[in-house]
Amino acid sequence: MRRSRIAGMGHFLPERVVTNDDLRQWMETSDEWIHQRSGIRERRWVEGNVGASELAEPAALQALAEAGRTVADVDMILFATLSPDLNFPGSGCLLGARLGIPGTAAMDIRNQCTGFLYSLATADSMVRSGMAKCVLIAGSEVHSSGIELSTRGRDVSVLFGDGAGCAVITEATDGSMLLDHELHADGRFAEILMVEAPASRMMPRLTPQMMEEGRHYPKMDGKAVFKHAVEKLPPLVHSILGRNGFTLDDVAMLVPHQANMRINELVARHLGLGPERVMHNIQKYGNTTAASIPIALHEAAQEGRIKKGDLVLLAGLGAGLTWGASLLRW
Ligand SMILES: CC(C)(COP(=O)(O)OP(=O)(O)OC[C@H]1O[C@@H](n2cnc3c(N)ncnc32)[C@H](O)[C@@H]1OP(=O)(O)O)[C@@H](O)C(=O)NCCC(=O)NCCS
Repeated sequence: MRRSRIAGMGHFLPERVVTNDDLRQWMETSDEWIHQRSGIRERRWVEGNVGASELAEPAALQALAEAGRTVADVDMILFATLSPDLNFPGSGCLLGARLGIPGTAAMDIRNQCTGFLYSLATADSMVRSGMAKCVLIAGSEVHSSGIELSTRGRDVSVLFGDGAGCAVITEATDGSMLLDHELHADGRFAEILMVEAPASRMMPRLTPQMMEEGRHYPKMDGKAVFKHAVEKLPPLVHSILGRNGFTLDDVAMLVPHQANMRINELVARHLGLGPERVMHNIQKYGNTTAASIPIALHEAAQEGRIKKGDLVLLAGLGAGLTWGASLLRW
């Protein structure tokens, strides 16, 4: 049976560092509040007009180089983002144009913090079925142009950062492979984390009054998101491990979505995983949504925290609600 693997990865963070103290020029906040509740010390922001596809380009080229492939090998682009360059067309099409591969299939995956996991599951199925041979996944977000930089928006705006992470998925040849994925969604909780406008369900989609009210900025019920994550992630981890005949003892590294250090520490404690087996980098980048898992996974590999043959677990929860996990042999 044909299997697939992550053949190479890349990530890219804009150079501009914005510390918690820097945010105080726009809102009433403090390094102490932000760090205590989220673990974040700083994040990266783009400078000027940079969209998600531009941010993804260097990460994509790095992932292809690491995989020993060129842009000409790519037969499918999956682009995960909640901050697409444009409402339409999708950022996958724009990345294909940037990479100079006209005609190559491209699809956007709008699953927010689990966008990379949904993309990985989709790429795995495509390679296993023979429909694609070399899938380029990009998780890329430009949050800085869409957050409310004021005291009114501070509960959300301090958490998010810009960044991109990419992976190249090809046929497995040497034991390294994607093993399984478990994906979930529950739209009953859409309103606990969303951007309300502009939206097709409203006529007109956006008015000056809506903008005055800040309805075009993300809104979050942070406590509800926190509770869903802490309740849903541990059973999900047990489920995906159990159905593949593994236990937590077999897992070399959990790479969780970087939404909040406290969520990940609580989840790790519930699972009985020590800090040496859980990857964190939220302190440097904040929540980069669809980019967070690929950036963290690539950094874990670059730092030697994941070695060939290791069993690695990826897991996350975010807007939708959506949540999911992927299990792989590195
Ligand atoms: C957002 C989050 C950090 C808030 O933490 P919290 O412990 O729920 O917040 P608290 O209830 O302790 O604090 C709220 C108070 O802090 C204030 N506050 C909010 N943001 C602030 C900020 N950036 N700086 C200072 N004060 C802030 C609020 O106005 C409120 O003040 P009040 O009590 O006077 O009304 C937390 O709920 C969270 O991380 N949730 C999960 C979010 C997440 O993971 N989102 C991404 C999913 S992909």
